[in-house]
Amino acid sequence: MERRIGIFGGSFDPLHRGHLALAAGALRELDLDQIYFVPARSSPLKPHGPVLAASQRLKEIRIALKPFPRFKVSDCEIERQGPSYSFQTVLSFRRKFPSSALFLLMGSDTLKDFKKWKNWREILSQCQLGVARRAGNEENLRNLRKELKGKIHWLKSRIPSVSSTEIRLEPYLRKHLTRERFAHTLGVAKFAEKLARAHRLDVRRAKLAALLHDLAREWDEKELLRYVQKHSLKVPEKKFTCERQPILLHSFVGADLARNIFFVQDRKVLSAVEKHSLGSLKMSPLDKCLYLADLLAPDRKFEEAAQLRRLALQNLDRAFVEGVRSKRNYALKKHALAHPLSVRVWNRFVSDKTP
Ligand SMILES: [Fe+2]
Ligand SMILES: [Fe+2]
Repeated sequence: MERRIGIFGGSFDPLHRGHLALAAGALRELDLDQIYFVPARSSPLKPHGPVLAASQRLKEIRIALKPFPRFKVSDCEIERQGPSYSFQTVLSFRRKFPSSALFLLMGSDTLKDFKKWKNWREILSQCQLGVARRAGNEENLRNLRKELKGKIHWLKSRIPSVSSTEIRLEPYLRKHLTRERFAHTLGVAKFAEKLARAHRLDVRRAKLAALLHDLAREWDEKELLRYVQKHSLKVPEKKFTCERQPILLHSFVGADLARNIFFVQDRKVLSAVEKHSLGSLKMSPLDKCLYLADLLAPDRKFEEAAQLRRLALQNLDRAFVEGVRSKRNYALKKHALAHPLSVRVWNRFVSDKTP
């Protein structure tokens, strides 16, 4: 009888329950005999390599999969030199299993870049795709539908809302933030999720942006300045910010760390992180959501906080205007410097709307 084999590639950096849920769903729904987890040596579409070394990932996957006899590990990508192209992996499985039905397994977030993969047509000539949607995430896959018609098996099981980034983030935050800042970050994440739900924004994105927002908040000013110069970061009013309010650099350094240490490529998330303290003349709903979640986290005790929290859940735009007003009032009271961008944000969003 024809065997049915699943091939599940990825960095597995680290392997987590989302991967296992996808594999378990595929095994059941596609009636597979075996699934091979194939950790990538380096992914061609990710500019930075995995955080964990290949040998460590391989070891961890072997241990994690031990209780599941139908899950196997293949080191073919790790053994192969150069970037890990899936078409080569599929061809090597085809040689090994000439008469089996092959299924390449992935999440819908991976599928959306499928046409950027090297020799993707060759992949489709050798195998079919088993694709699971990620809970709470609907990718726009319209451009792929025609070409992949008849080649995709959509799995009914959803991948739980968890990503390698989120899994690595929490231990990192625990280690690098003070206990107070860590508690603040979790509070921001919780309120950001609540706001996202209230305003029908992507809850995962809001949570991720919130967890990332103060990554560099504990750095001292010298470290922030050094990082900004070394990596030539773009910062609004750079001279003023660096000379007069270097602590505000933490938003921009945080976004850059998110990109380079946690491989976050989602521009909406990175934008929200960059804009969380100063705001900007262009604020997307997610930018406003994080700006407000940071201002109104449970550890913020200023007078109108409770009232603003209620407003934020009802009307994000009005709450943002009130949030900018509240920050400015606070700065005025403290005789603090007014950052040129915060003045422009005030003029753009608040001054002409003041009754
Ligand atoms: Fe911050
Ligand atoms: Fe914060």
